[in-house]
Amino acid sequence: MIDKNSKSFKRKFDSAVVHGYSSCEGGYGAVSFPIYQTSTYKNPGLGSDIEFSYSRCSNPTRAEVQNTVALLEQGSAGFAFTSGLSAILACFSLLSAGDHVVISDDIYGGAYRMAEEIFKRFNLSFTRVDESNLSAVENAITEKTKMIYLESPTNPMMKVADIKAIAEISKKHGLLLTVDNTFLSPYFQKPLTLGADIVIHSGTKYLTGHNDTTAGFVIVDDEDLAKRLDLIVRTEGNGLSPFDSWLVLRGIQTLPLRMKKHEENALKVAKFLKTVPLVEEVYYVGLEDHPSFEISKKQSTGFGGMLSFTVKDVSKVPQILKGGDVIIFAEGLGGTATLITYPLTQTHASIPKEVRDEIGITDKLIRLSVGIEDAEDIINDLKNMLK
Ligand SMILES: Cc1ncc(COP(=O)(O)O)c(C=O)c1O
Repeated sequence: MIDKNSKSFKRKFDSAVVHGYSSCEGGYGAVSFPIYQTSTYKNPGLGSDIEFSYSRCSNPTRAEVQNTVALLEQGSAGFAFTSGLSAILACFSLLSAGDHVVISDDIYGGAYRMAEEIFKRFNLSFTRVDESNLSAVENAITEKTKMIYLESPTNPMMKVADIKAIAEISKKHGLLLTVDNTFLSPYFQKPLTLGADIVIHSGTKYLTGHNDTTAGFVIVDDEDLAKRLDLIVRTEGNGLSPFDSWLVLRGIQTLPLRMKKHEENALKVAKFLKTVPLVEEVYYVGLEDHPSFEISKKQSTGFGGMLSFTVKDVSKVPQILKGGDVIIFAEGLGGTATLITYPLTQTHASIPKEVRDEIGITDKLIRLSVGIEDAEDIINDLKNMLK
């Protein structure tokens, strides 16, 4: 648990990302937090109560990054994992056989696969619901339900959940509410402050921000949950390495600058796409005609850099996916470079066709992670790709 009365909690967000949790206190006063590349630590003697004993369980560089992400999310404990999926694994590991989870119908394909192909074999059950429909969420709750799990905005259809309202439903039924906050990052949205119990991140994305490492985070604001997660990290053994922790610490320092630019560019790109004859539909939460524009404004301070669109003529998809000068065809999101992704064969390939069709993940759907390049270059690429 971290001290919420510490001076790091008093800093404004833009300062907190730069100075982290412990700033340059301790050691030699290094301004760049050191990489503690050690698997084990000298024990001063039998019975000593040492903070770090073995790096699978805890490591100072990992502690710094997880405390920093926890403070950005306004939680009191954070856990850093080798990927976003390891973070989701830890979160589902809080559950027991027989438990039931209400889960977004539109989620990252890997999270769907984890639920359907791994945890179902351990007798957990899942009901998929449209999280933007509050009564659908409440109606899906049974006496076995222990968790509501959602992404907001969702990947790739950009649906938005009213997190506060769902947190109230969750509390009424004594459930844990988990929110995957990958798309907006704590810069734009802090689910714990809206009543969520657990926040998860693919730290691979905006938190690190440069498409150079994989990482995942779980953040909570409850001592009991923190203890249970600590046991899971020690035991499942997928805590983030010291070097990758340092990469996240380095990347996260520019999170506010990047998020502002991602959003500025995404809005320009979304507005441009609306004018392209080949484009059928544009899904970007920051467009005023998005069905959840008002809810988003209420619970988030921005709309982020992710958008999806459909094209009228599927035969043009291979041409579009060749990318452009700055737009790269690749699986991923949240980095400085603009990436174009085809959910059907990439991020959401493991979801069965009938489920994909129901959500809208068809052969016409394309996802864009709008980078921080000059917006004109991104739009010029799109002009050529969408001819
Ligand atoms: C919303 C979301 N959550 C979780 C993940 C999984 O993260 P990772 O790829 O770091 O395992 C992804 C991956 O794309 C994602 O988009």
